[in-house]
Amino acid sequence: MFASRSIVSLSRRAFSTSSAQNAAKVAVLGAAGGIGQPLSLLLKANPKVTELSLYDVVNTPGVAADLGHINTVAKVTGFTPENDGLKSALDGADMVVIPAGVPRKPGMTRDDLFKTNAGIVRSLAEACAEVCPKAQILIISNPVNSTVPIASEVFIKAGVYDPKRIFGVTTLDCVRASRFIYEKTGNLVDVPVVGGHAGITIIPLFSQVEGLKLSDEERDALTYRVQFGGDEVVKAKAGTGSATLSMAYAGARFADSLLRASEGEDVIEWSFVRNDLYASEGIKYFSTYVRLGSEGVKEVLPLPDNLTDYEKDLVVKGVAELQKTEKKGFDFVHSQ
Ligand code: NAI
Repeated sequence: MFASRSIVSLSRRAFSTSSAQNAAKVAVLGAAGGIGQPLSLLLKANPKVTELSLYDVVNTPGVAADLGHINTVAKVTGFTPENDGLKSALDGADMVVIPAGVPRKPGMTRDDLFKTNAGIVRSLAEACAEVCPKAQILIISNPVNSTVPIASEVFIKAGVYDPKRIFGVTTLDCVRASRFIYEKTGNLVDVPVVGGHAGITIIPLFSQVEGLKLSDEERDALTYRVQFGGDEVVKAKAGTGSATLSMAYAGARFADSLLRASEGEDVIEWSFVRNDLYASEGIKYFSTYVRLGSEGVKEVLPLPDNLTDYEKDLVVKGVAELQKTEKKGFDFVHSQ
């Protein structure tokens, strides 16, 4: 159903060179950070982006001045909290990408970031709900499994919620899975990764890659590597942060997918969005196959019905974990 894509189409999807058809104003919140800067660079390189608003609590004027000299179409402006900078940054935004917040240090789980990042995402989402309620909101800040419910509840409270427009960006898990399979097979193909974005909630579906044959040992090792690949980077960076460059690449790919879909292209991505797939288990958000369109989510697709027993078991375990992290996000907004 979802055929593997060649290396050519994979690279085209991130860096399409077609000329811009629709004007797109993109705001990046947390734009001066480890992810924010390279992500803003890749967005500046995307010809579909005509305006780029960079917001952070520090340093955005410098980042904006630097990127502003690149000879692509996007006009770049930097904003800081002074003079109501957040609202100015969001004014007229079609898309808001949020990598604001603290990253992990060795030994931390993504959930350990909740205490700091939950409040940051809530306040940024409140501003989006007020200033650009119809924008597509792409949440990168961890723990995504809780920050997406937080942003959604903020929009619900404000009476402007549209589940088609809020996305948890899980694309890095797909990017990693694709790369790890390439290292094994020499074929660069899409690997669906579903569930959520933390540890055992990250569920790669290797059975869906056409022609891929893995022994049980290979499958177990690759599954673990995709689930805990972020730890490899955190460890290698030795206390200075987590994945930034690969995340910027993944975030830029997801943003480009949405922009291409808004121009009428049929695009499937995997993203942590609101849906009914596991409503009977008490969860409202699950990363699955999503057909994108001009409004954001065009169609939420169920998981393929030919998953292996191994993958079905991963889904059961992932859903149990997601019940806790979703509730944590919901309670955070409603207990205040
Ligand atoms: P970083 O610390 O390098 O950058 C974060 C930026 O956010 C800083 O520039 C900081 O000034 C800014 N910031 C803090 N509070 C803010 C606020 N209220 N408004 C605007 N900006 C604010 O961190 P990094 O490495 O860029 O990571 C950012 C987030 O992305 C972390 O939560 C990290 O866990 C997450 N992440 C998510 C991934 C995913 O796959 N979804 C992958 C990797 C990281």
